[in-house]
Amino acid sequence: MKKESVDFLVVGGGIAGYQAVLSLLPHGSVLLVSRGPLSSGSSYYAQGGLALPWGFTPEDRERHVQDTLRAGAGLCDEASVRTLVGDGEKVWEGLLSLDVPFDQASDGSFLTTREAAHSVPRIVHAGGDRTGFLILSALAKKVSESPSFRFLSNLQLHSIRKDRKGVVTGAVFLGETGDELLEIEAGATILSTGGGSSLFLRSTNPRLQRGDGVAVAARAGCEIERMAYYQFHPTVLDIPGQAPFLLTEAMRGEGARVINGKGRRFLYDYHPDGELAPRDVVSRALWLESRKFPDEGIFLSLTHFPEGRVAQRFPQVFRHCLELGLDLQTTPAPIRPAAHFQMGGIRTDMNGRTTLPGLFAIGEVASTRVHGANRLASNSLLEALVMGRRVVDAIDVGYHGEGTEEADTLGNVPFFMPCVDIEEGWARLRQILWDSAGIVRTLPLVRKGLHEIREMIASERPVPLDGARFALGNGLLVASMILEDILRAPVAGANYVVDELPGSTGKDKD
Ligand code: SIN
Repeated sequence: MKKESVDFLVVGGGIAGYQAVLSLLPHGSVLLVSRGPLSSGSSYYAQGGLALPWGFTPEDRERHVQDTLRAGAGLCDEASVRTLVGDGEKVWEGLLSLDVPFDQASDGSFLTTREAAHSVPRIVHAGGDRTGFLILSALAKKVSESPSFRFLSNLQLHSIRKDRKGVVTGAVFLGETGDELLEIEAGATILSTGGGSSLFLRSTNPRLQRGDGVAVAARAGCEIERMAYYQFHPTVLDIPGQAPFLLTEAMRGEGARVINGKGRRFLYDYHPDGELAPRDVVSRALWLESRKFPDEGIFLSLTHFPEGRVAQRFPQVFRHCLELGLDLQTTPAPIRPAAHFQMGGIRTDMNGRTTLPGLFAIGEVASTRVHGANRLASNSLLEALVMGRRVVDAIDVGYHGEGTEEADTLGNVPFFMPCVDIEEGWARLRQILWDSAGIVRTLPLVRKGLHEIREMIASERPVPLDGARFALGNGLLVASMILEDILRAPVAGANYVVDELPGSTGKDKD
C-alpha cells in the first residue's frame, strides 16, 4: 500500500471542502482528495444562490433566523442557526475578496432575489443561475496559487485511519483501478463529501453523491443522525428519457407559476403562500396532486415573463431546456419532484467536530441541525462557506500528525462486499428508496423496503476488493440507515409518514 503524509487532509471538492482548504492553508500543508472534477459534486450545479442576512443589521439577521426556523418545521437547533446566520457577513466579505462576480444592477448595487419561505429578498447570485460554479471556481483558483496545496483526484474514500487510542490520523483511499489502496496520514481529517440524494430513483444530484462519507464514517464508529431527513425539490424537469434537471426555486421567487394540466395554480389549495410555501410543503402538494390526477401533468410556467427575461436571468437553465426542445419563454415545463438534499448525516457541532477525535465533517455530509426537517432555500451554500471557515477553529493547528501511535489502519474496514449484480443492485436500491423513503411514506412500505435492502446486505461475502462493489455496499448501508431512522421517529417533521397513500396506486418509475 502506498503511503503519504500531510498536515491537513480534506476529502471532497465542493464549496465546503475548498473553503476549508483556504482557511487551513495559513497553518500548514493541505491535501484535497476528490472523487472527480469540480463537476462531480453538487456545489457546481447550485443555481439559486447564497442566502445572507442581507443588510446585515440585527433586524436582518433576526428575520433570516426566523425564516430558517420556520422552514425547518420546528426541528432546527436555534443556537446553531444563530451561529450560521451570524457568520453571514464574514462569508460575504470573504467572497468579495475573491472577486466572485455576483450579479449587480446598472448602478453597481448587488441584486438579491427571493426563494420559497424567505420573507424578504436576501439571496445573492452570480451568472444568473451559475452561483455554485462561480463560487467554487473562485475558491479553487485561489487555493491553487499556494505551494502548500495539493490535489488528488479519482480516489474513492475507503476507510478512516485511527491510532490505537481511537484518534483519527488520516484516511485510506481506493485508487482508480479500484483495487489499490493509498494511505494518507494527516494531523486532521475533514470530510466534505456531500450528501446521498442520488441514492433515490429521481435526484437533482450528480451520480457520485451517494452517501459514501456517511457510510465510511459510520463504519469507523462515528455518530450518524437524522438520516430520515431528506429534502425533495418540487420543480425538477420531467421529460421522459432525460435525466432530472433542477429548475431553480429562484424562478418561483421571481414569479414563475406552478399549474396543473388545466392551467390552474393549485398550490393555494395547500398553503396560503402558494408557490412560495416551504419546499417540503410544495413537494408534498405536487406529489398529492399527481396521485389525485395522475394523467393531468404538472408544469412550471414562465410564459408570462417579459420577452427575453428567462434567458437573461436564468441562462443556464434556459439553454439546457432549449437543447431538449423546450422553450421556457413560450412553453410551460413538465415537472416532478426529486431528491435534492440530505439534512442529516455525521453529527457535528458548529465547528465540524464529529464524535471521533481528529475527524471533522462539514457541508452536506454533516448534521449540524441548522436545517431542521426542511432546509430554507440557499442556506446550503451559506452553511458550506460558514463551516469551511469555522472548522479551522476546532483543529489543533500545532499538531501535524507526528508521533501518533501505530495506526490501526484497516481495523474498521470489513472486506465483506455485496455479491449481487452491481447494476441491478443499484437499480433496485434506488427504486426501493424512492418507493419507501420518498416524499410521503407509510410504515408498511418502509418495513418492506428495509427488508429488501437487508436481503441485499445479507449477500455480503469476503471477496477481493473492488471499487464498484465497495460503493454499492456503501449505498446499501446508507439506505438501511435512512429506513431505520424513519422507523425510529416516524412522525417527526419532514419525515412524513401517513397511514395510507391516497389516490393512484400506480408505481412511480423513471
Ligand atoms: C434551487 O436553486 O432551487 C436550489 C437551491 C437550494 O437547494 O437551496
